[in-house]
Amino acid sequence: MLSLAALDTRRSVPTRQLAAPGPDAATLQRMLTTAVRVPDHGKRVPFRFLRISGDARVALADAAQARLLELEPDSGNGVITKLRTRFTAPPLTIAVIAKLGLDEKIPVSERASTASCVCLLLLQAAQAEGFGAQWLTGWPAYDRVFLESVLGLEQDERLTGTIAIGSLHVEVPERHRPDASTLIRDWQPA
Ligand SMILES: Cc1cc2nc3c(=O)[nH]c(=O)nc-3n(C[C@H](O)[C@H](O)[C@H](O)COP(=O)(O)O)c2cc1C
Repeated sequence: MLSLAALDTRRSVPTRQLAAPGPDAATLQRMLTTAVRVPDHGKRVPFRFLRISGDARVALADAAQARLLELEPDSGNGVITKLRTRFTAPPLTIAVIAKLGLDEKIPVSERASTASCVCLLLLQAAQAEGFGAQWLTGWPAYDRVFLESVLGLEQDERLTGTIAIGSLHVEVPERHRPDASTLIRDWQPA
């Protein structure tokens, strides 16, 4: 049974704190099975995944660093290290890509929403399997050169986010959560 208490335990683990081991292939497949169970208007399946693990993590960090230095040649060591850590610290990163090509019926925003739901479910699935995870974007999610020439996205695709997944070796403090009761009021006819 789906338990609200279990859902309420969801929290992100900062990517720099994620370490090996990551999920094995079968566990990842199981997690993705949960993640694709999203609301999907028109059943378009408007998303796909890229797996970044092993040596590919370092290759991606190298490519991201090279692109950063094209964009911001004066980037300091701190910025470069943070960027590299994002791809090298977690043993596994799943890029969730939204497919947003021409569609006469389902608006882009709805298909983007479906891809966002995939990200949330993947976070929950990772935690349910005992891993930590974090959803990241930052400039790599919006720079078309990086997206197309490094990650291989098509022009009509967007990077909804990268989900860093790994083991956590320290307890992550809870953050303040919104009080849902302050966010709702009854709609009244005008
Ligand atoms: C679309 C999206 C993009 C995000 N991008 C980043 C990011 O680039 N860097 C970052 O530190 N946190 C980012 N976050 C926030 C973290 O994923 C996470 O929500 C945050 O660390 C708070 O943890 P929580 O999930 O436990 O509330 C992003 C969240 C979302 C929804």
